[in-house]
Amino acid sequence: MENILSGIKPTGQLTLGNYIGALKNFSKFQDENKVFVFIADLHALTLPIEPEVLNQNTKDIVAFYLACGLDPNKASIFLQSHVYEHSELGTILGNYAYMGELNRMTQFKDKASKLNEKNIGLGLFTYPVLMAADIILYDAKKVPVGEDQKQHVELARDLAIRFNHRYKKDIFVIPEPVIPTTGARIMSLSDPSKKMSKSDPKGDIFLKDDLKVARKKIMSAVTDLECEVRYDKENKPGISNLLTIYSCLKEITIEEAEKEFIGANYGTFKRAVADVVCDTLERIQTKYNEYINSDYLDEVLEKGAKEARAIASNTIKRVKACVGLYSKQ
Ligand code: AMP
Ligand code: TRP
Repeated sequence: MENILSGIKPTGQLTLGNYIGALKNFSKFQDENKVFVFIADLHALTLPIEPEVLNQNTKDIVAFYLACGLDPNKASIFLQSHVYEHSELGTILGNYAYMGELNRMTQFKDKASKLNEKNIGLGLFTYPVLMAADIILYDAKKVPVGEDQKQHVELARDLAIRFNHRYKKDIFVIPEPVIPTTGARIMSLSDPSKKMSKSDPKGDIFLKDDLKVARKKIMSAVTDLECEVRYDKENKPGISNLLTIYSCLKEITIEEAEKEFIGANYGTFKRAVADVVCDTLERIQTKYNEYINSDYLDEVLEKGAKEARAIASNTIKRVKACVGLYSKQ
């Protein structure tokens, strides 16, 4: 049994990319491992966000976690801000992270380049340190994430190794990213050279999308001028992205998906993709609607935080003793 941890930040509407790259995979681990799944609400503050939006997004993610099959009796589901040890370990770990390595983080460079240089928040810069604390606190060996988070998990790994070397003890478990072989980077439907992301409404399918809207988005997805349904990421990025979505949702390989559409035109293919996407959304939305306004969400979070604190407080004790922070024996 291994400890597995992952999280999503409540910065916007969850997309089909979040589902395929992350959410869908979390529940697969819960039967045979100790799973911690949280909402990275402190991370959501690293870019401007309205308080009521943050609140609603947070509840939404809890409801979607449950709707996507996470079972609070098997996995601990909680908010980052409810377990103070995240901030505490983040502060301690910040002393072992180098500004040079944080400066090299792709996500930081990307997000900072869209801001006025004078207004880049410190939290955005130290984001990966807090993320490392999230992971390390739970002795997480595996961290299931999409492709874009790989670099952050690798930094957590480097920090854990550095810390262990510094104190010559195996104080931290060394984490590793678990990236799905297909579906780790679902692309925008309107521009398949860009990632589908919460902040780009045009090419996104949102988990909350009306089924008709979702169908329309798939039917008008950008493709190419050929008429062969074939996986070729370089020359046919739109079709390849749709094949990826289809195969992930059907739980088949890309090759099996290609075989199903030999000789089919793009219209037929897109209709089949739209069908499986709409089936998936409908299933998730039905459950989401059952949970979103129920008190059950708070019960789940309370139980999850309690379970999380039990392990997080132990790690913090270990770390404090290791670095020499005094406490009564
Ligand atoms: P975020 O939306 O950045 O909070 O991401 C939450 C999780 O979803 C992370 O594990 C991401 O790697 C994953 N994710 C986000 N967008 C995509 C995408 N377009 N394709 C696959 N995975 C994604
Ligand atoms: N940074 C992740 C994202 O943007 C969210 C996150 C925060 C996370 N802490 C984490 C993911 C720890 C995995 C493990 O998606």
